[in-house]
Amino acid sequence: MVTKVQKVNPEDFSKEELKEACDILKNGGLVAFPTETVYGLGGDALNPFAASKIYKAKGRPSDNPLIVHIADMEDLYKVADGITENGLKLAKTFWPGPLTLIFKKKEIVPSSVTGGLLTVAVRMPAHAVARELIRQSGVYIAAPSANISGRPSPVRAEHVIEDLDGRIDMVIDGGSAGIGIESSIVDVSGADPVILRPGYITKAMLEKVAESVYTDPVIESRVIRKDIAAKAPGMKYRHYAPKGELVIVEGDIQKVTAKINMLAEEKEKKGCKTAVIATNETKDKYKCSIVKSIGSRKHEASIAAGLYDILREMDYLGAQYIYSESFDNDILGGAVMNRMIKAAAYHIVQA
Ligand code: TXA
Ligand code: MG
Repeated sequence: MVTKVQKVNPEDFSKEELKEACDILKNGGLVAFPTETVYGLGGDALNPFAASKIYKAKGRPSDNPLIVHIADMEDLYKVADGITENGLKLAKTFWPGPLTLIFKKKEIVPSSVTGGLLTVAVRMPAHAVARELIRQSGVYIAAPSANISGRPSPVRAEHVIEDLDGRIDMVIDGGSAGIGIESSIVDVSGADPVILRPGYITKAMLEKVAESVYTDPVIESRVIRKDIAAKAPGMKYRHYAPKGELVIVEGDIQKVTAKINMLAEEKEKKGCKTAVIATNETKDKYKCSIVKSIGSRKHEASIAAGLYDILREMDYLGAQYIYSESFDNDILGGAVMNRMIKAAAYHIVQA
């Protein structure tokens, strides 16, 4: 299969430019498209064959459910059942936007899309191309992140091509996805909302709208928890991982730079390709031959936006050992660290 690339300017595009993509979706094919979080790999959410193609293209375990993307509030009632008051309040406040909500599913949603669960994940993206694609195709779009399972999520069309060229029908290239980390996921199928994956919409933001918001303990853990299962099936898999060994160094920033310099020097002396993930503020303090800045601590959104790009870059550079600063103290930091810790397979050292 040849994967077509369709360039679209999110600020200025015509319906005609999305026509072929819409036809592919209507006919059960796969189209990767930009959203405001990361690129998604889309297929018709009500077509079980499209769902199985998505799992196959990504190499994704079929017990890991997909998010159903909708464009209008009335679509929610077509796919979700028993919509709770909290669920509706959160949807009305944060949609369209980077929030996925889990509801009880309606029968028309195939169980292959929900990984056999009786609930369904629903998101209304804010990205103009994503919304127009859903509206114009007339299908709800099931879309996981458009990466090979286990790889960092794609934040540019080039990343999608890198992973999925020849495995999907089309990629819509709409430039960089803005936020750079996946949507926050909140289970609103029960009495109290439970955060299953942290993201741009933080707990504090959710608490302004709904009471008693809890966080799934698995995602806050800094060690592998074998005693409890993650409530979002996808959170149990190793994820976002670069090919080299990533270690996160925590503590006072001066001590962190000193410790990273020491660890990196040890590896370089042994002839290993070694890299440091720093920030704009600290990048000149490292002696390692490869030092890359993820973004600026003064603009934490730049750190979220830089995360997956830098993890992929580590692979292009062939880094065997990667030492990274920690990004825990900011509002978005929890979401960034959640991904980093998994990419590092929970390998954290104190400076
Ligand atoms: O920002 C995003 O959410 C992106 C864009 C494309 O919208 N999508 C995305 O999809 O990140 P994916 O498949 O990479 O992550 C979806 C996560 C998985 O961890 C999955 O287990 C969880 O959502 N999930 C989906 N349906 C669920 C359900 N019914 N109950 C619990 N978790 C669910
Ligand atoms: Mg994913």
